[in-house]
Amino acid sequence: MTEIIDPRLQKLKEARQRAEMGGGESRIAKQHAKGKMTARERIAAFLDPGSFQELQPFTISASSKNIPGDGVVTGFGTVDGRTVFIYAQDFTVSGGSVSLAHARKIVQVVELAMQNGAPVVGFLDSGGARIQEGIRALQGYGELFRANAMASGVIPQISVMMGPCAGGAAYSPALTDFIVMTDKTSMMFITGPDVVKSVTGEIIDHQGLGGAHVHATRSGVSHFIGSSEEESMAITRKLLSYLPSNNMESPPVVPTEDDPFRTDEVLNSLVPEDPNTPYDMYEVIRRVVDLGSFFEVHAGWAGNAIVGFARLEGKTVGIVAQQPMVMAGVLDINASDKIARFVRFCDAFNVPLITFVDSPGFLPGTAQEHGGIIRHGAKALYAYIEATVPKISIVTRKAYGGAYIVMSSKSIGADLHLAWPSAEIAVMGAEGAVNILHRRDLKAAEDPEAKRKELVEAYREEFCNPYRAAEYGIVDDIIEPAQTRPVLVKALRAIREPARYVPPKKHGVMPV
Ligand code: HXC
Repeated sequence: MTEIIDPRLQKLKEARQRAEMGGGESRIAKQHAKGKMTARERIAAFLDPGSFQELQPFTISASSKNIPGDGVVTGFGTVDGRTVFIYAQDFTVSGGSVSLAHARKIVQVVELAMQNGAPVVGFLDSGGARIQEGIRALQGYGELFRANAMASGVIPQISVMMGPCAGGAAYSPALTDFIVMTDKTSMMFITGPDVVKSVTGEIIDHQGLGGAHVHATRSGVSHFIGSSEEESMAITRKLLSYLPSNNMESPPVVPTEDDPFRTDEVLNSLVPEDPNTPYDMYEVIRRVVDLGSFFEVHAGWAGNAIVGFARLEGKTVGIVAQQPMVMAGVLDINASDKIARFVRFCDAFNVPLITFVDSPGFLPGTAQEHGGIIRHGAKALYAYIEATVPKISIVTRKAYGGAYIVMSSKSIGADLHLAWPSAEIAVMGAEGAVNILHRRDLKAAEDPEAKRKELVEAYREEFCNPYRAAEYGIVDDIIEPAQTRPVLVKALRAIREPARYVPPKKHGVMPV
């Protein structure tokens, strides 16, 4: 018996099949040969099974050889049951290049995401502006950049790089909150190797110019690196689990078995007595937050600073810290940028900030001064001051001078400023201070080295401790390190987002 199919359904079926074939079998095979999934495979692998609803699969433009969908698959679905708006560029159609229609499909999902208060996730794999479209492609990009900027701070935007992202096209991901790059297959650059060669004479390949490692470790453009497309997706799903769907909501609560009042004796002896011996700040963070909940952002870049999400009592917190094991936890240009950006994200999305401070100050030198450490350090200051989410800081060891102030000190608006007994809160370190204050004494001394040692000891005793700050009420309490988790839990139960006075203004002028 032959099955009779309604001709209208048959037509729809064929149209859909054509759309789903993208650029055709041979280009799909080429995509697979590069170790890359197709746009539809990516969406299917990322979202909860069966949750995807596509939008505008039949859009065409002459410049994509009339292939339905115009080189991008867009729509919505769910991740762990939460709504996500999504797009995936289809490299099999004109290299995933961006026409006006292609760009407008993406703009539509960004706008729907904003209107409906859900994150937007993009899988990028594109040759950039579709050359045959000329100015229409640039119009499309401009509209997309505008949508990205308008959505900034309203909904989380995540760009997952799974192929090339050439030219000004890199500015759409750059305007989003997080970039996940896939190792070996993804790349981002403004001008490609050919242009670089013709302008500077430098010979470099795509990966060397703008591969995942470059952006995850040197430029800081990428926040995460996945070793495969599957891993990039897993990172993205995990990231979403820490984030609220929009700026009016709180992040989801993830139940934990970890006792909120768990103490940890190891913390009492973690900071070495010798102020110049480093210790691992990751150890501090991991022992304080809900077990296994620390999720680092920008792990490969500016390692002297640590930023990332974690949970306390199942609720998301943003962790900012110094790492004494990398450049003694000094603040430099990159660390300042890393901190400023993370603080601003947390503030925009209702994530309380916990800051662990151990920094000897800003990095001296012409490279830093000429590179604009003043301008960059100011970003971190500005971001902390502007943040209205609960801010709790804990000085574990060094908090000298400018670094002390920047790192969520009471003076710039911390709700609670705590110190461990090992804290050294001072204008500057003992050696530097003694050299300035006692230059003459040291010159006159019979044994200058012995005198210096004596004076350094005296300075340390007098100034390098948390008690002065506590006497002035600048430190709210000096706590036993073992008690850090219970103290933070109690504090976060008590401190909601306080109403802070902000003078009327359109917006501040953040130093960038
Ligand atoms: C139209 C494009 C295209 C583009 C690739 N294709 N890029 N079509 N416009 N920008 C097409 C190719 O013609 C080819 O079509 C198919 O996509 C696959 O491309 P291949 O080159 O075969 O792939 P591959 O070897 O993997 O190289 C990928 C690539 C390369 C590195 C991305 O294609 C490339 O360099 N493309 C140009 C990149 C670029 O300069 N873009 C413009 C940047 S300026 P067929 O039919 O053969 O399969 C820009 C301005 C944005 O983006 C401004 C915003 C402000």
